[in-house]
Amino acid sequence: MSSSPAGTETPVERWHRGWIAADQLTSHYEDGYLVVDVKRPHRRAEWIATDEANATAMAHRVALKREPTWLSVPTQSPDAVCRAVEKAGLVVARPDEAFMRCALTGHLRPSAPTGYTVEVKRTHVIQARLLTSAGEEAASGLMAVVGEDAVAHRIWTEPEHRRRGLASVLMGALVHAAVAEGATTGFLFASAEGAHLYTRLGWEKVSDLVVARNDRADVQPWVDLDTVARQACLDDTTGPGLDDVVEGEHEMEGQFVTDEPGFHLALGEALLGPGRHFGRTLDELRVHLAARSGFTLKKWHQWYVASEAMPTYFERVFALLNEYGVLDGRLSALVAEHHPHFGLSRQVRRW
Ligand SMILES: CC(C)(COP(=O)(O)OP(=O)(O)OC[C@H]1O[C@@H](n2cnc3c(N)ncnc32)[C@H](O)[C@@H]1OP(=O)(O)O)[C@@H](O)C(=O)NCCC(=O)NCCS
Repeated sequence: MSSSPAGTETPVERWHRGWIAADQLTSHYEDGYLVVDVKRPHRRAEWIATDEANATAMAHRVALKREPTWLSVPTQSPDAVCRAVEKAGLVVARPDEAFMRCALTGHLRPSAPTGYTVEVKRTHVIQARLLTSAGEEAASGLMAVVGEDAVAHRIWTEPEHRRRGLASVLMGALVHAAVAEGATTGFLFASAEGAHLYTRLGWEKVSDLVVARNDRADVQPWVDLDTVARQACLDDTTGPGLDDVVEGEHEMEGQFVTDEPGFHLALGEALLGPGRHFGRTLDELRVHLAARSGFTLKKWHQWYVASEAMPTYFERVFALLNEYGVLDGRLSALVAEHHPHFGLSRQVRRW
């Protein structure tokens, strides 16, 4: 990659170095614009605006790309950037993220709450996990160290273990290990949810961050992928927004629903279209089901593929969709006939 002269890199260029090191990606400059070669089906490349004055020009370039391409714009004027990228024909995927940095010395390092232990290991990055006493992973994350910079990535706490301080412990452990390797400055791109946490830990917002994409995700590029790659696709999909209409009857293609991400990808496509999700986990799905009504899944083609490939998850999905009356009664009765032990919900009995 051609790059800015040493010492003149912008903070976002420094952040990108950590990201590509963490995910073992490459990047290059296209006509002076920074492009990361993500190479995922739903995100072949991500353009990153190192100067927000270029956002509109970059949006027009990204809109013309034939492959699914994303654009990230760190900005002091997120509303104006959202308007500009939409005008160029892009879809705003995440309007409310933040670009953050932190002087790492003196970072909080809380100890793990009772019942959890921290595990840190060094691969090409620093990896940290919080494990329960039963050995289950409750939280995980990583940090890439590039020179004096450390970039946090994939910070995640399992929904049932949230709000117990685990991500705070995780961040403390990652930063401690990074400082031991000589890192002095941290960078990260924060979700709206994560920004609270990081602020409490002493991180500062450099700018807001708008993430947009062109609309080239119009095939089912995930169907041939394994579970890990499908999960990566699912991570790249966009959830339901206020303007999305889900009312009415829908049909879901079940032929490729052989694993958990496959189910959520297929359901998102059925309800909202390609590149969309209606919850990436059952907990998220429940939240959306509770918030929306007036729609049914009239058909789940080849539902038995999921029922054979992942019986336990299928049973949970079935119970959840039935609980909210989403499954068409005939479909529901048909599935229940093949799985008498599922028990019939109130909706099914009415049929
Ligand atoms: C963001 C995320 C990592 C936070 O994980 P977490 O383990 O719940 O984080 P913590 O428990 O350390 O802190 C979360 C909140 O719980 C509060 N909290 C911590 N311990 C608590 C306790 N014992 N009781 C009640 N609340 C507690 C914290 O004060 C914090 O509040 P704040 O958000 O208002 O600052 C998690 O929600 C997640 O995985 N989200 C999806 C992925 C994501 O967005 N990751 C961040 C990408 S940058």
